[in-house]
Amino acid sequence: MNVITTINEMQAELLKQKSQGKSVGFVPTMGFLHEGHLTLLRQARKENDIVVLSIFVNPLQFGPKEDFSTYPRDFERDRALAECEKADYLFFPSVEEMYPTEPSVSVVVKDRTDVLCGKSRPGHFDGVATVITKLFNIMMPSRAYFGKKDAQQVAVIEGLISDFNFPVELIPVDIVREEDGLAKSSRNVNLLPHEREQAVILYKSLQAAKEEIIMGERNPARLISFIKEMITNQSDGEVDYVDIYSYPNLKPLEKIKGRIIIALAVKFSKVRLIDNLILDID
Ligand code: PAJ
Repeated sequence: MNVITTINEMQAELLKQKSQGKSVGFVPTMGFLHEGHLTLLRQARKENDIVVLSIFVNPLQFGPKEDFSTYPRDFERDRALAECEKADYLFFPSVEEMYPTEPSVSVVVKDRTDVLCGKSRPGHFDGVATVITKLFNIMMPSRAYFGKKDAQQVAVIEGLISDFNFPVELIPVDIVREEDGLAKSSRNVNLLPHEREQAVILYKSLQAAKEEIIMGERNPARLISFIKEMITNQSDGEVDYVDIYSYPNLKPLEKIKGRIIIALAVKFSKVRLIDNLILDID
């Protein structure tokens, strides 16, 4: 595996590969790799000639009070894991390499951001869309792999690819979970031990809501209250949001019907966790 830290070298390598007719699968991450990221890498490995992993903790997508400085990092461990998964290239640029000057152009996401994480993290998806635009231009991938754990991110990237005509196929990948159901996340290491035990309530409340829907509940407001109550009663976490929308358009619903997303975010003392469930309801 080739570790590359400059944009010029990365672009030149991939241009060479593409000129030989090779397909390129791209997995963008912020590192501190876990089974979720590795699942994306494995799928990319199966479907492409060349696999590129990027590790870049993107300052543009963190708010001023968010965890940019405490975001977990361990490059050597990540490098070994990427090697095990047979990635061909690991792109690991510095912040100065990616943003050498104040940007003269930025990408602003207009739709699908006034809800969920977009509402509680203003500017977050502009930061994601800007870095992904740069990374797509650097990698020129045939396919790009994104996890459904960040379902709103998948919706925003779908809009980015379609609006800006990137010749990239978006491949959404299912959520990978711990044994107890907690969605794998680099941030889980920042949970205190008792919070780690309680954090399974995110998954449990989503599963309980699904049961309610199966039993016939179709009222979004009642389901939202039901989930909020469960989380508040069974953890010290503070609910940031629990919402139900159509998916991927993220529009409000009067009644549970069609493809829907139940999404939630809960703040623990040092970390905010997200989870979601996408369901197809007749
Ligand atoms: P990061 O949080 O490192 O996640 C990288 C990719 O791994 C994302 O597509 C995310 O959805 C996926 N992922 C994370 N946990 C997962 C899980 N438990 N199951 C399945 N997939 C999972 O998301 C980002 O980085 C950044 O916003 C990025 C896209 C790299 C732009 O900076």
